[in-house]
Amino acid sequence: MTFLFALFLAQASCASCHGEDGNSKIANIPSLAGQPEFFILNQLFLMREGVRPIESMKPLVKDLKDSDIDALAKHFAGLEPRPSGESIDPALVKRGSELAVTLRCASCHLPNFAGRQQMPRLATQRVDYLVHSMKEFRDNKRSGADTLMSNAVAGLSDADLTALAHYAASLGK
Ligand code: HEC
Ligand code: HEC
Repeated sequence: MTFLFALFLAQASCASCHGEDGNSKIANIPSLAGQPEFFILNQLFLMREGVRPIESMKPLVKDLKDSDIDALAKHFAGLEPRPSGESIDPALVKRGSELAVTLRCASCHLPNFAGRQQMPRLATQRVDYLVHSMKEFRDNKRSGADTLMSNAVAGLSDADLTALAHYAASLGK
């Protein structure tokens, strides 16, 4: 029951932006496929409570019950992440991989960038969304943001963030 309901809800309310299979084809909209279940759950709670307000999602999340959030998180966590098809620059991937070591991104997001618990998956995420979200952390524009994450990218240039995004997006499953 729960599974079928989550599938219905996801197709009816989320697919138009986040993709039929949880892999977004729209610039600056994140893919949800393969995200850690707890990350999705936590973000949906933050959105419903208005801590991380996303204008276009507000009407969709405001009436979600805890059990709906739970089912949606399970649903998207179980889908297969797929590359977005954006072009990936090998020189930027190399630069990004070096920065990621220096900045210890893997200590939280895991060496394969698959994420865990409240830490999102970065591997195969859209390049444009990765850049956009890291800028928001760096510039303290993401409300409800985890300060440890903002600290991790503090002081980096736009070029550094772009390199990190190409590296993360290039990583497989
Ligand atoms: C009208 C488009 C739209 C719809 C429909 C929509 N979302 Fe979103 N969603 C977004 C955008 C845009 C963001 C990223 C916002 C930002 O810039 O931080 C987002 C972010 C998210 C995130 C955070 C992901 C991350 O990596 O940070 C989750 C989880 C999420 N949406 C779940 C859902 C679910 C579940 C549904 C269906 C109930 C849904 N969304 C419907 C546009 C949409
Ligand atoms: C101390 C742990 C920690 C470190 C180190 C860290 N992160 Fe994060 N990161 C997080 C957490 C937690 C979140 C979710 C933040 C939130 O909920 O506000 C996050 C979110 C993100 C996001 C947003 C993705 C999304 O789907 O919304 C990106 C991109 C990201 N991190 C990239 C990086 C990169 C690149 C590095 C290395 C420069 C890094 N992180 C280092 C903990 C960390």
